[in-house]
Amino acid sequence: TTTLQGRDILGIGDLSAEEMTAVLDLGAKLKSGQPSPRCQKILGLLFDKASTRTRVSFSAAIYQLGGQVLDLNPSVTQVGRGEPAKDTARVLDRYLDILAIRTFEQSKLETFAKYAQIPVINALTDLEHPCQIIADFMTIKECFGKLKGSTVTYLGDGNNVAHSLILGGALMGMKIRVATPKDYQPLPMIIEQAHKLAKPGFEIIITDDPVAAVKDSNVLYTDVWASMGQEDLAQSRIPIFQDYQINDELLSKAEQDAIVLHCLPAHRGEEITNSVIEGKQSKVWDQAENRMHAQKALMVSLLGIEN
Ligand code: CP
Ligand code: NVA
Repeated sequence: TTTLQGRDILGIGDLSAEEMTAVLDLGAKLKSGQPSPRCQKILGLLFDKASTRTRVSFSAAIYQLGGQVLDLNPSVTQVGRGEPAKDTARVLDRYLDILAIRTFEQSKLETFAKYAQIPVINALTDLEHPCQIIADFMTIKECFGKLKGSTVTYLGDGNNVAHSLILGGALMGMKIRVATPKDYQPLPMIIEQAHKLAKPGFEIIITDDPVAAVKDSNVLYTDVWASMGQEDLAQSRIPIFQDYQINDELLSKAEQDAIVLHCLPAHRGEEITNSVIEGKQSKVWDQAENRMHAQKALMVSLLGIEN
């Protein structure tokens, strides 16, 4: 088995293709009811932003492994009163076995990882959302039996989720298309990193043409148009992003058996219509469920508790 014991997962680039495959396989095994390893480890959740799925799926996963979770909400710790990250990191390292962090700057996550020896996991930053993409790939594999060769088209804001999708697609030899308004494209450094990580079969198209992008796609994927921390921009972004909405008409231009993914929370009538998210091609609830299985597999590997 491929163990990730002691490592940090700050982005998709912290995994090799083999390691990603091993986590996906273990996640599928755990989901199928295969006896799970047991531990008495303690997971800390240090979240500077709201969360339903990530918070609850990480908590449920560690409980199911026999461990415990501690919510290190900034409002009840000294974090919210400005204790330096490098100090908090060294102290938490002495109490906890593993730490998942949701924050704004990637650099803050990197500081935690540098000063804490225990595994640090990116539970969403402005740059990446690796845990989301592992669950998404588990979902795509469940639907189509493979990742390599699949065309996955992301529509919307080219930020954190799109970044991790591009990097994951590179790693797994997938065809990734990203359709965004011109000013909302993924960061060039992510595209560069993707080309460095790329395995045979990887293709990337960045476009502002949503209709061309969805043609022949196996997966359509979207996310909120204004991310956490950008709430004041939400109204002004609606007309800019309107053409990138996943609705029945756009979906009809993809492959007939295409599936629709959304990391959630969804904004019906904005990035996705009610009809699509509630429709037959929507896999968003399986996708959300898979967060738990995928993160359980990831923690098993990072904690080195594989049977
Ligand atoms: N998709 C996702 O990360 O959801 P939460 O913000 O609810 O954790
Ligand atoms: N792009 C969104 C993802 C939420 C899971 C955000 O950063 O708010």
